[in-house]
Amino acid sequence: MGVTMIPEMQALPLVCLMLLLLWRAPGADAQAGQDSEVHQPQDKVVVTVGETLNLTCTMSYSSYAAPVAWLKGWGSGNKTVYDQKGSFPRVTRVVSESNTDYSILIRDVRLEDTGTYYCVRFRKSVRGDEVPRPEKGTEVSVQAKPTHPVVSGPSHRARPGQSVSVTCTAGGFFPQDISVRWLKDEAPVSAQQPHITPEQMKPSYEMSSTVTLTLRKDDVHSQVACEVQHPTLTAPLRGIYELREALRVPPSVRVVADLPSPVEVNKTVNFTCHVKEFYPKDVVITWLENRMEMKVENILQPVETPQGLFELRSLVDVKVTEEKNGSVYTCQVKHNAQDTFSKRATLWIADPTREGLRNFSSLGLNLLTSLGLGIVILLEKGLLGGLLIFLFKRGRA
Ligand SMILES: *[C@@H]1O[C@H](CO)[C@@H](O)[C@H](O)[C@H]1NC(C)=O
Ligand SMILES: *[C@@H]1O[C@H](CO)[C@@H](O)[C@H](O)[C@H]1NC(C)=O
Ligand SMILES: *[C@@H]1O[C@H](CO)[C@@H](O)[C@H](O)[C@H]1NC(C)=O
Ligand SMILES: *[C@@H]1O[C@H](CO)[C@@H](O)[C@H](O)[C@H]1NC(C)=O
Ligand SMILES: *[C@@H]1O[C@H](CO)[C@@H](O)[C@H](O)[C@H]1NC(C)=O
Repeated sequence: MGVTMIPEMQALPLVCLMLLLLWRAPGADAQAGQDSEVHQPQDKVVVTVGETLNLTCTMSYSSYAAPVAWLKGWGSGNKTVYDQKGSFPRVTRVVSESNTDYSILIRDVRLEDTGTYYCVRFRKSVRGDEVPRPEKGTEVSVQAKPTHPVVSGPSHRARPGQSVSVTCTAGGFFPQDISVRWLKDEAPVSAQQPHITPEQMKPSYEMSSTVTLTLRKDDVHSQVACEVQHPTLTAPLRGIYELREALRVPPSVRVVADLPSPVEVNKTVNFTCHVKEFYPKDVVITWLENRMEMKVENILQPVETPQGLFELRSLVDVKVTEEKNGSVYTCQVKHNAQDTFSKRATLWIADPTREGLRNFSSLGLNLLTSLGLGIVILLEKGLLGGLLIFLFKRGRA
């Protein structure tokens, strides 16, 4: 037994030497499927769409005879990214013509460029060109920046007190981790998590985030911002929405006559329609005399108030004739091509056959404008005062 063991012990260093030779010999590398003379120092590279990808590959000895190439992927489905024969418009050598440095730059990187890249040296053999597998490839992951966020509001305006939804969308990004923050006039507003979905026919993602806000009258000056953050961004991207685009503040309307009622024949009465605190500024004002549309010459433009709302006055003058007694003057305000608001005033004419005291009998009934009562009270006081002075003076005479 002991006798047979000795030759095996002696054979061991030889086996080791043979293994070492096999390992080092280029031919043996091919059998093992590896080419240890090709160095690809990069394990993982992260690059952003549109940027240049830098892939490093060096040879420990000059590779004059054996052609070198860069492949993307291994086995079936591999793609030649660069070789010395073909034309590769996006690829340039870092050191052109070098026989040891086969580093390349790939311009204008796309998401499709994601994959593992192998720098390979072909080897002639009896069976044709062989491609020994490199020790390892370079894993390239391509990231993509999100598109600039687009913020959109509701299709219809809403009044103060009502809620509106504002939506922010962005697409084209990879990987899918993205965060969205909402701000109203720089103060954070809570919203639901963004909805992230793969984009159609593309390897990237898109997202949508919605925030619901209750409108206020002073939102004319408010801004809503959607802030998108992604690993590819050094600073968040911001989309802005002007809340006034969603806002409709309906006007307050009133009609005032410049003469107290009843009015004497042959005088001119001016009716003023005060249209206040509305947004947006598009209003159309029409005047009706009873049911007939009146011609209004001087059409004024809305004026902006310091609060950012608008106001407007419209005036019609009426030459008083007896036939106009009891006529109704209506100011119709159509706001933002939507709602119509109207106020009216009735014209009463003093009976010329019954002067002075007759006015008393009809006091308080005549002016039906929204503010008419105030004028009537003033008129009443004035007349009463005049009568007292008259009686007082007559008494002294
Ligand atoms: C490519 O990367 C290598 C190191 O990884 C660096 O030395 C070289 O400057 C880079 N080249 C370009 C053009 O970025
Ligand atoms: C690359 O793909 C081709 C066929 O598409 C195949 O013949 C070749 O062996 C592959 N090369 C490698 C290194 O996988
Ligand atoms: C009104 O004017 C007309 C003509 O201008 C005149 O005939 C009439 O007497 C006037 N009526 C009154 C009440 O002043
Ligand atoms: C009525 O309006 C006209 C302008 O339209 C003006 O000239 C006139 O003075 C006004 N009358 C009164 C009583 O304010
Ligand atoms: C106008 O109408 C009122 C109410 O119907 C009446 O009291 C007044 O006398 C009328 N005036 C004239 C000038 O007819």
